Amino acid sequence: MPRVRLAITADSHWGLPKCQPGNLALVEALRADPPDLLLLGGDQGADSHFDECLETFGTVGCPVALVPGNHDIWVREADARGDSLDVYRDHLPNVCRRLGMHLLDTGPFFLPGHDLAVVGCMNWYDHSWGGPTLVQRFPAEAWRLEAMQFSRGRHNDRVYVRWPAGLDGFAFTRQGADTLESHLREALERASSVVVMTHHPALPELGFPWLDRQPSGSGENAVLPDMNHLMWEAFSGNTQVERLLRTHADRLALVISGHTHRWREGALPGGVRLLNVGSDYPVKNLIRMEGLTDGFHLQQFGEMPANPAGVA
Ligand SMILES: [Fe+2]
Ligand SMILES: [Fe+2]
Repeated sequence: MPRVRLAITADSHWGLPKCQPGNLALVEALRADPPDLLLLGGDQGADSHFDECLETFGTVGCPVALVPGNHDIWVREADARGDSLDVYRDHLPNVCRRLGMHLLDTGPFFLPGHDLAVVGCMNWYDHSWGGPTLVQRFPAEAWRLEAMQFSRGRHNDRVYVRWPAGLDGFAFTRQGADTLESHLREALERASSVVVMTHHPALPELGFPWLDRQPSGSGENAVLPDMNHLMWEAFSGNTQVERLLRTHADRLALVISGHTHRWREGALPGGVRLLNVGSDYPVKNLIRMEGLTDGFHLQQFGEMPANPAGVA
């Protein structure tokens, strides 16, 4: 069986002027050398930019599987597409169906000719990361979790993610994790190699790199994550999906996430490889792999920062 040629990107944020030079150059590179399968890791674009993003990636000429990101379900007041759940359950699947692309939230993808399954979902957050520590260390600031109010500024999901009456982010997180579990079980039964892709980090090892959970120093000199860091963590993922993937780690080949705009790579003790795509607004990352066990090649497109090492 030939080794699968994968290409992976995320966080296109299509349509934002600062993103387009990188996006267009990345698509051009894919068109010049299409992979067997292209994976898109969410935040393709808000509103109609989601559709435009997929239409353009559709010109690459290869199968495409994707997950949405939080920006992809942002809605305006009285949005013609409905609320965020309508967009997630109806609008985005319809766009993908029209373009012949596979939305992983609706089921696993099995690549013909390869013994490979890809499962994934947007993956939501429920404060189970970071939240308990925040409440314990900063009890007077616990209200900030619900309000999504940092010491400076508010998380835009609080404004643009609108759930219908009777649903909140906690229930949505559970539903998404339950669905991912059933998709993962199906994939593990039918394919030898399984890749997992989520938008919000699937594991803390794929989260914000400056939140490594390990306090530096000890005793009175310990430097702990501050309140805002704990809030970012609380809005990044959840322990249900984390537990699910750790339980099945010995059967997974690769776990990919996006959202943080920070590159991460690593592995779990069982050997599963971890990658956070790390595309930023002006710099878009494209990961190419040939087979799932060898190395990968990272290409970057767009305007490089003057001091890449200084990116926070
Ligand atoms: Fe993003
Ligand atoms: Fe995101």
